[in-house]
Amino acid sequence: MTQNVKGFSKLSKEEKINWITNNYFINPLEAKESLTKYWNSDENLQKLHDEFIENTLTNFYLPYAVAPNFIINGKSYTIPMAIEESSVVAAASKAAKFWGERGGFKTTIINTEKIGQVHFLFNGDSEKLTAFFNQIKSQFFFDTNEITKNMQKRGGGILDIQLRDKTSEIPNYFQLHATFNTKDSMGANFINTCLEQFAKTLETKANDYDGFSPEEKNVQIIMSILSNYVPNCVVRAEVSCPIEQLSEDKNIDSNEFAQKFATAVKIAEIEPYRAVTHNKGIMNGIDAVVLATGNDFRAVEAGIHAYASKSGQYSSLSHVKIENGIFTFWLDVPLALGTVGGLTSLHPLVKFSMELLQKPSAEELMQIVAAAGLAQNFAALRSLTTTGIQQGHMKMHLMNILNQYQATKEEKQKVLEYFKDTTVSHSLVIDYLEKIRR
Ligand code: MEV
Repeated sequence: MTQNVKGFSKLSKEEKINWITNNYFINPLEAKESLTKYWNSDENLQKLHDEFIENTLTNFYLPYAVAPNFIINGKSYTIPMAIEESSVVAAASKAAKFWGERGGFKTTIINTEKIGQVHFLFNGDSEKLTAFFNQIKSQFFFDTNEITKNMQKRGGGILDIQLRDKTSEIPNYFQLHATFNTKDSMGANFINTCLEQFAKTLETKANDYDGFSPEEKNVQIIMSILSNYVPNCVVRAEVSCPIEQLSEDKNIDSNEFAQKFATAVKIAEIEPYRAVTHNKGIMNGIDAVVLATGNDFRAVEAGIHAYASKSGQYSSLSHVKIENGIFTFWLDVPLALGTVGGLTSLHPLVKFSMELLQKPSAEELMQIVAAAGLAQNFAALRSLTTTGIQQGHMKMHLMNILNQYQATKEEKQKVLEYFKDTTVSHSLVIDYLEKIRR
């Protein structure tokens, strides 16, 4: 049985690999080779990646692709996408082209407010706490002046701080609920630094406050942390066109397609089982751009799914209306993104993405990401309500199957030719490949 290891983080990269491969693998040499062949020959670049996280052994590649021809508010973009799933990029590109020919995507920033909270316990009279809070409120701003002055120069900073009484849910539990504008940075460090200062100010001032009893003076800070739920940092992406322009295929009637598409969206609005998959399709677009631009996709995911549940039931992020012969399809999503700070100036491919997107502000990036999400959702629903998803999906997946079975270049050509007009399935591909090999 494998022993636990002491001081693993102190080992060199090679020592870590040796320990892992010797302890867990039947063929340690082969296992080691699986890791080392992904090392970058440029030592500086490798070191940069090694130091992003801890206990790094190697690099884990994701394909980096682009979806061209996105017209967003009249401006043309080629959008970078980092994702492993076949057919997502093709679907985004196809939807971008389709809507590009129909006026493109219209996007609007609904608002850009971020949130952070100091969670604390106060054992005493809540009216006294309110009076105390109102008296010292300006001190929170004053004590964070040094932290906020640069952000203020860029037009951001702390917007407001409120005291919230949560004692009906947990005895003695209160919050400082603060709102921020962090301009082009995602703002996690800025917000958390401000919050930790608020906590210190709260503790000190409560301790010095004459109006409190000894027990009340003893405010207990539980934690200070930003919230990844940002329902007031929202962007809308929208597409619309006359119904008759909706179908590109003479076998599909535009009106019928519009109605079927709208029903599919309505189903996702009321049926959580469908809504989760519907929104997953949106996230295929959103996450891929969020990753390619070095943003925190876990924060984005958590925030978006919370937003999708804001009515109390998980529901579709996108909506549709058909009015006066016009089909309108839109998406509202909360997105806390940054185009400065974090990985944006460190990761060479993130820098590349930013330049490819013509150095967007955080607000512009929110709009690009939302458009990618809507494009993806449109493409998925169009396939689902017409040909079915598997036709396109399996065509794209064909190459994965061929690579899995180590097909040669000639075999690939033959198989691709054969499946040009035949529905792809995993077993049919294997059967055909075996037939050629025989
Ligand atoms: C697959 O990654 C995404 C879809 O399932 C989305 C959807 O069902 O809307 C096709």
